[in-house]
Amino acid sequence: MQPEDVQALTSPAGQEALAAAALLPDGDPLAAAEKLRAQGFAPTLAAAALTQTELRRKARAKFGTDAAVMFFTRAGLEQATRSVVARRRAARLAAAGARRVADLGCGVGADTIAFARAGMRVLAVDADPGTAAIAEANIKNLGLPGVLVEARDATTTPLVAVEAVFCDPARRTSGGRRVFDPRAYSPPWDFVTALPSRVPNAVLKLAPGIDHALLPAGAEGEWVSVDGDVVEAAAWCGPLAEAPRRATVIRGEDVFELTGSGEERAPVGPVGTYLYDPDGAVVRSHLVAELADALSGNLLDESIAYITTNHLEHTPFARPYTVIDRLPIALKKLRAALKERDIGALQILKRGSAHDVDDLRRQLRLDGRGSAFLALTRIKGEPAALLLKPADAPAAAAGR
Ligand SMILES: C[S@@+](CC[C@H](N)C(=O)[O-])C[C@H]1O[C@@H](n2cnc3c(N)ncnc32)[C@H](O)[C@@H]1O
Repeated sequence: MQPEDVQALTSPAGQEALAAAALLPDGDPLAAAEKLRAQGFAPTLAAAALTQTELRRKARAKFGTDAAVMFFTRAGLEQATRSVVARRRAARLAAAGARRVADLGCGVGADTIAFARAGMRVLAVDADPGTAAIAEANIKNLGLPGVLVEARDATTTPLVAVEAVFCDPARRTSGGRRVFDPRAYSPPWDFVTALPSRVPNAVLKLAPGIDHALLPAGAEGEWVSVDGDVVEAAAWCGPLAEAPRRATVIRGEDVFELTGSGEERAPVGPVGTYLYDPDGAVVRSHLVAELADALSGNLLDESIAYITTNHLEHTPFARPYTVIDRLPIALKKLRAALKERDIGALQILKRGSAHDVDDLRRQLRLDGRGSAFLALTRIKGEPAALLLKPADAPAAAAGR
């Protein structure tokens, strides 16, 4: 999107087109375009309004009611931080005393919005003029004071009057494909990792798969999950680092945090009555040993994240299962064992197993009346299958 497209959408005619598009039912874009044209809207404006309406509907999951007045590009929405995560980050930064922050590569402005709402003044820059225009329109529509949006390259942006810097580099090619190698980030990785030497209070948003060895020296590595999905990693640098590693687990509006060195090793022991499947944020932040310690549990295998105990303790950091049985792993014997138990519906979890879950389910050809969970894993280096049933707390179980 170009700045003039944003201008067209924010003009009185654009606002009317957006209002008219929002009243049309979702699902038939051709009929919707026809209806808008019949109401007198120019074809390009009608198309742009319909695209925004579709993106606003999609954006509700990340932005809630704000989405209704925001503008997006498809890529900008995909890459945007969810408001619940941005809000938490902004609150932590504000609590650390930051009042003026630079958001380098602000995208559609999700983090900038959260910083402004947390009472900070924000310098928001994006190298893409259309994206910067969108961020500016979003800040205006949400009525947020204290934000200056500039369309410029972060690498040449002076950082003189800020107490903190946040950088969320683009992790996609210009064609929209994800890039996994940080050296392909934009702004470039060297620039991103040098930020803490320029502004010590630096927060760098990174892909969840980032190698721990790439975190800036002394930084806190935080992995964040929302409702079970790991959505990002962040490096909290300089004075902002509070613990070497943190797992932040967000469920609905509740936030749970586990911290530790990320270097502990949990004891390995026999299969107990319960098996815990840790949240991805705990696994990615290398805090499984800390969680095992908190649960007084042990691992089944030194390299696998399942924790086992003989007592049940509910924790936001892992889903507990009752271990019903250890089953043979060989296909025919496994099929026979499941048939004998009249299992038809099988949910398969795996850690440390190369099995293709869908393939295995097909090959098992189960047709029983019961349901169960099966964990494919390794126990002390040997492939193993554990038959499980969820041991969720009653309220959580009802919600699943
Ligand atoms: C991952 S997105 C940021 C998303 C944003 N934090 C949000 O939640 O809405 C990265 C942004 O960085 C911008 N970008 C890439 N290289 C840049 C550079 N050298 N200078 C400034 N912005 C850049 C891209 O245009 C893109 O909008």
